[in-house]
Amino acid sequence: MKKIITMIGLATLLITSVARATEVFVLSANPSHIHVLAASCATCHGTNGNGVDQTKPLAGIGKTDFLTKMLAFKSGERKATVMHRHAKGLNAQEIEGLAAYFSAQIPRQPSALPSQVLNKNHAN
Ligand code: HEC
Repeated sequence: MKKIITMIGLATLLITSVARATEVFVLSANPSHIHVLAASCATCHGTNGNGVDQTKPLAGIGKTDFLTKMLAFKSGERKATVMHRHAKGLNAQEIEGLAAYFSAQIPRQPSALPSQVLNKNHAN
């Protein structure tokens, strides 16, 4: 009985490892995975890297410039408030994919966003 349980355990471990390896490969090679990652940068760097506030825009950034900066964040060589965390969570293929993505974006002038007014009756 012990042998059977051990065999099942080993088989499960093997299947999970293969599935994980395949998932990492598929996700990294998939362009939509890069688009999803890029969308997570929009909170601070703006839509498609076109920043609207103090955070530097990424649209049109040179690939080498991007890679150098991201790798410096990842290694801790460049001190940062938040970017060391983001960079550490990305693998080399993802950083390369993001470099290609942001370097291909067209820099645009930030448009002034209309201020939001909350109606006291919540009726718009
Ligand atoms: C929570 C806000 C936030 C998010 C989300 C964010 N960044 Fe940043 N980013 C910053 C800040 C702030 C800096 C300035 C360095 C620092 O203090 O961390 C920066 C700097 C950078 C720089 C260097 C810009 C330059 O020219 O010096 C790059 C490249 C960069 N971010 C890429 C990304 C990418 C790619 C993502 C998404 C995976 C991302 N950032 C997500 C806030 C953010």
